[in-house]
Amino acid sequence: MTDLPFDGQISRYFREDAPQPVRDEIEGKKKGEILATDSPYAKKWKRAHYDAALEALQIELVKMQAWVRETGQRVAIVFEGRDAAGKGGTIKRFRENLNPRGARLVALGKPTEAEAGQWYFQRYIQHLPTAGEIVFFDRSWYNRGVVEKVFRFCKDEQRDKWFEQVNPFEQMLVDEGIKVFKIWLTVDRAAQLQRFMDRESDPLKQWKLSWIDVEGLKKWDAYTTAIVETLDKTHTDNTPWLVVRSADKRRARVNAIRAVLRQLDYTGKDAKALGEVDDKIVSGPEFIM
Ligand code: ADP
Ligand code: AMP
Ligand code: MLT
Repeated sequence: MTDLPFDGQISRYFREDAPQPVRDEIEGKKKGEILATDSPYAKKWKRAHYDAALEALQIELVKMQAWVRETGQRVAIVFEGRDAAGKGGTIKRFRENLNPRGARLVALGKPTEAEAGQWYFQRYIQHLPTAGEIVFFDRSWYNRGVVEKVFRFCKDEQRDKWFEQVNPFEQMLVDEGIKVFKIWLTVDRAAQLQRFMDRESDPLKQWKLSWIDVEGLKKWDAYTTAIVETLDKTHTDNTPWLVVRSADKRRARVNAIRAVLRQLDYTGKDAKALGEVDDKIVSGPEFIM
């Protein structure tokens, strides 16, 4: 028996505290079935279908990066969502075949003491893309809207101030010519719990679990409130949210990549290879509001 992180707290939560409908959903699951009450599809995409769709998109991503480098574009893609929503896995698929020099990942930890004393946006600004670069933010300045609220890492006055500043901040990025994308991956409660349990039992995935995930299980509704408020206040014409249903990770990844590529006019774009964005998978905040 290997040691479970957090003494098997995730499995214990599942057995003892998880709401009955959530437990029923997990226990009643058959292989290939999508574990999410809000999913528009009953079945996951088959592997071969996913691989083919993804490969076509990888080629388009490579063309897109070549265009970014040749024309000196700056692209910033923010990935947000609850724990286990699939941010890391989606970013991985975006970057898989790109030149890492020019496709940077930014995954900042909790602020240091010095950073905590700065203007909130300051530590993110230094990671914004330069000419020719695509930057992927795995979590971002949106921590203040959601996790910092739920765990009281900031005062409400600080969050109110942040709400005053975030839209103008993003508008400045857009005015500067930076192409900004905001992707919100949304995951169902049962799917999140199932993914946490998988992480708890898989030595290769245990690093993804943190005490925030464990404590967060009990704070689902507080998260929902903070998320709805944040999306509502920050869904603007120039920097709208692309809300991606990620119960089926395969559909989510493919459609997230399509949604970004379709908005960029890169050289050699092949609309047919790109395919259509599935509007049952990618939409706006109305998905979760
Ligand atoms: P992740 O989901 O990114 O693997 P966690 O679930 O552990 O990481 O934490 C969620 C987010 O909360 C992270 O971006 C982390 O940096 C942030 N965070 C953790 N502790 C604090 C803190 N004391 N103050 C502010 N932010 C924090
Ligand atoms: P979509 O990209 O979701 O619009 O789907 C386009 C094509 O994918 C359709 O022609 C479907 O037949 C095919 N497709 C969708 N789901 C699956 C699946 N689970 N397995 C195989 N093919 C699929
Ligand atoms: C992921 O699945 O990569 C998550 O969204 C990251 C996390 O669990 O915090």
